[in-house]
Amino acid sequence: MPLLGLSTTYLQTLMKRFLLLLSICQFAWVLTYCGNQRSPEPTSPTTPTTSDTICFEADLLPLLRFNCAKSGCHDAGTAANGVVTEDYATIRAQVSPNNLDQSALYNAVKVGSHQGVSLDPLQVELIQNWVLQGAQNTTGCGGVPFNCDTAKFTYNEVVRIIMDKECVGCHNANTANDNIRLDTFDEVKKVATSGALVGAIEWQNGFSPMPRNRDQLPDCERTVIRKWIAAGMPF
Ligand code: HEC
Repeated sequence: MPLLGLSTTYLQTLMKRFLLLLSICQFAWVLTYCGNQRSPEPTSPTTPTTSDTICFEADLLPLLRFNCAKSGCHDAGTAANGVVTEDYATIRAQVSPNNLDQSALYNAVKVGSHQGVSLDPLQVELIQNWVLQGAQNTTGCGGVPFNCDTAKFTYNEVVRIIMDKECVGCHNANTANDNIRLDTFDEVKKVATSGALVGAIEWQNGFSPMPRNRDQLPDCERTVIRKWIAAGMPF
C-alpha cells in the first residue's frame, strides 16, 4: 500500500540501498579499526624538536645497552625470554608508544628490581617519559645533526656531541662508570689530561675499550678528539 505517495516497490528499493550502504560503512569501519589495532612500524630517526625531548640515541640506548643487553640477559646472543635491548628496533618491540601499561619494558623496570637489576628512579623516569613521548628514535641530539669533519675540533662544536651520543649515557652524574663523567667540559678535560680518554677510544693496551660493547668510534671522530687534545682542549 502506498506510503507518502511512494510505491511499495520504490520503498523496498530504497530500503535495500540503505542496508547496502550500512554494510559498506560497517566494513569500512572494521577495516579502519583493524588498521589502528596493528602496532605502528618503528619510526625512522628524527632530531628532537624541543629540549625536553628525550634523546633515544644519547640517553636511552646506552642505559639499556649497559644495564640490560648483557651476556646472560638481553644481548642478541642470550635473548632471555625472547627480549633483546641492543638497538632501536629490538627496544621498540618492547614498547607501546604513549601507553605505559602495555609497555613490557616499562613494566619490567618500574617495580625497582628486575632479576636483580635495579635502575635508579631517575632512570626509570627517563624510560617512562620516553614511552610517553611516543618512543621515538631520536638521534643527533647535540642540537645540530653531526657531520664529522677533522677541520673542526672544539669541545662545544664537536667533542661534546661525540661524548653525548656515545659516552654520556654511561658516564654522567647518576651513572659514572669507573667514577668517570663525560658530561661537562671540565670532566672531559680531566679524563683527557690523564690519558685515559685516548687510551680508551684507541683501544690501547691497559685501557678498557670504549664505547663499551660497541664498535670503535669512526676514524674521523677519534682524529677530532686527538686534535682537540693536541690543540690544548679549546672550548
Ligand atoms: C655501555 C656503557 C658505556 C659506554 C657507552 C661507555 N662507557 Fe666508558 N666505561 C664503562 C664502564 C662499565 C667502565 C669501567 C670499565 C669496564 O668495565 O670496562 C668504563 C670505563 C671507561 C674509562 C676508563 C678506562 C680505563 O681503563 O681506565 C674511560 C676513559 C671511558 N670509559 C671512556 C668512555 C668514552 C670516551 C666513551 C664514549 C666513546 C665511553 N666510555 C662509553 C661503560 C661505558
